[in-house]
Amino acid sequence: MRTTNSSEVSIKILLIGAAGQIGWELRNTLAPLGDIVATNRSILDLIDEDAIRRTVRSAHPDLIVNAAAYTQVDPAEAEPDLAMKVNGHAPGVMAQEARRAHAALVHYSTDYVFSGSIRRPYREDDEPNPLNTYGKTKLAGEKAIAAVDAPHLILRTSWVFGARGKNFFSTIVELAREREELKVVDDQIGKPNCSKAVAEATAEILARVSSRSSRSIVEGIAEASGSYHVCGEDHTSRFGFAEEIIALYGRRAAARGLPPLRVKRLIPVSSADFLTPAARPHYSVLSSEKMAQTFGVTLPSWREQLALAFDEMLLGGSQ
Ligand SMILES: NC(=O)c1ccc[n+]([C@@H]2O[C@H](COP(=O)([O-])OP(=O)(O)OC[C@H]3O[C@@H](n4cnc5c(N)ncnc54)[C@H](OP(=O)(O)O)[C@@H]3O)[C@@H](O)[C@H]2O)c1
Repeated sequence: MRTTNSSEVSIKILLIGAAGQIGWELRNTLAPLGDIVATNRSILDLIDEDAIRRTVRSAHPDLIVNAAAYTQVDPAEAEPDLAMKVNGHAPGVMAQEARRAHAALVHYSTDYVFSGSIRRPYREDDEPNPLNTYGKTKLAGEKAIAAVDAPHLILRTSWVFGARGKNFFSTIVELAREREELKVVDDQIGKPNCSKAVAEATAEILARVSSRSSRSIVEGIAEASGSYHVCGEDHTSRFGFAEEIIALYGRRAAARGLPPLRVKRLIPVSSADFLTPAARPHYSVLSSEKMAQTFGVTLPSWREQLALAFDEMLLGGSQ
């Protein structure tokens, strides 16, 4: 940690997974907090435990932020060992290295640690019971971190969309440009979150954590250590999310010079009609109450997040 003047303390942040949806946004939102050393898979492959240790030791970070993960839910069913190395094992190694360096770890996890059997928003202390390999490996990662006595925040989020990479938003737009009819499941309920909003909330949480304790960010995280759900207030189905994407596109396309969509009909179907290699929870709504109460941080509704990010997602600007 460096003191830049009498009142400002600049920290060193090791950002792992800086090329992903959330990681990319974190490069901007974390910048005011300190100096960032960013890695992506070509610099640090998380299947290599020694490389993780070497990278942390040479970076000397105050804070490790891990936004990397094996996030492909269906392919994970065929590659459980690889998914477990990246999602289950590597985060524990990061926590060990954080403890060794007297640093803190911020890590992301998922609504898919839950099975969907409870029909009210999931709280952080509800029992996880993942239905698929991705969820199981992410839960293993959470447990591996919790088992190490290092200051940490596990930030669970859900249904991430954004300007980079392939996500539900980009898939729906692509299909709606090609087809007249689109079938979308209406029995999976959750909370869509924009990568930028998650990254902004992360930076706000970190700023609050350190100002609240008026101590170092590491001490602040040590005090608040645990899991938090980082998401907006309201939820929808995959079908409702697709409907809003198409409606918003329709309202904005002409003014933005975008090609019209071909799609004429959006058809609700059940998950049983739309079989995928990985089972998904029918209900994975996360309660964001603990984040609001602990840090005073909230995210806009998913509709607002979508409207705010829409132009950047379709017209570029995040490159
Ligand atoms: N996406 C969602 O809907 C969602 C929902 C809930 C929670 N989350 C969680 O949020 C976090 C960030 O997700 P995201 O949506 O930003 O993911 P993302 O866009 O898929 O980015 C993940 C990044 O991890 C990298 N990665 C994968 N395997 C790696 C390896 N072996 N070594 C190093 N890097 C590797 C990927 O690199 P490549 O590009 O080279 O593959 C990619 O840049 C993850 O913890 C995820 O579990 C995501």
